[in-house]
Amino acid sequence: MATRTIRENGDAILLKKSRAVTDFNERLHTLLDDMRETLIKANGVGLAAPQVGVLRRAVLVMDVDREDLSPDEQIVELINPVIIESDGEQTGPEGCLSVPGIYGVVSRPAHVKVKAFNRYGEEFELEGTGLLARACCHEIDHLDGHLFTEKAERILSNEELEEMYNRSEEEEEN
Ligand code: NI
Repeated sequence: MATRTIRENGDAILLKKSRAVTDFNERLHTLLDDMRETLIKANGVGLAAPQVGVLRRAVLVMDVDREDLSPDEQIVELINPVIIESDGEQTGPEGCLSVPGIYGVVSRPAHVKVKAFNRYGEEFELEGTGLLARACCHEIDHLDGHLFTEKAERILSNEELEEMYNRSEEEEEN
């Protein structure tokens, strides 16, 4: 495994649409293993393949509410993910490893159900609320070339950021 460089805002690859994964092969597994290591090192809650320069529909989301699990165990790999159900609304702060230091207020569904494939090409469904639902939406947006800054109602000020950090030590970067 190796960490990969996270592409940052201004890199044109972040605005491109990713293609479906068709081969669930060793190459995909290496990509996913590298993404896992990159995500954990960056202390984020999600990572999409285009963020490491690969235009394929593969993302990681972390189920951070499962406090009984280690960070590595919290990671869910979603290949060719599609949101098949969503309801409710949550409005809150959101960030992105590709947009360091910037947080915006973004509204997302309160609950989503995602259909995806695992690394072996087996289909499964993932249901999430709260931060997991937010992460699923944020990461799937990356696959279509969208960043959270497009959807943010407003960007948080330094004062608001400080307040947020004081409330919670945990970073919420997707
Ligand atoms: Ni992101």
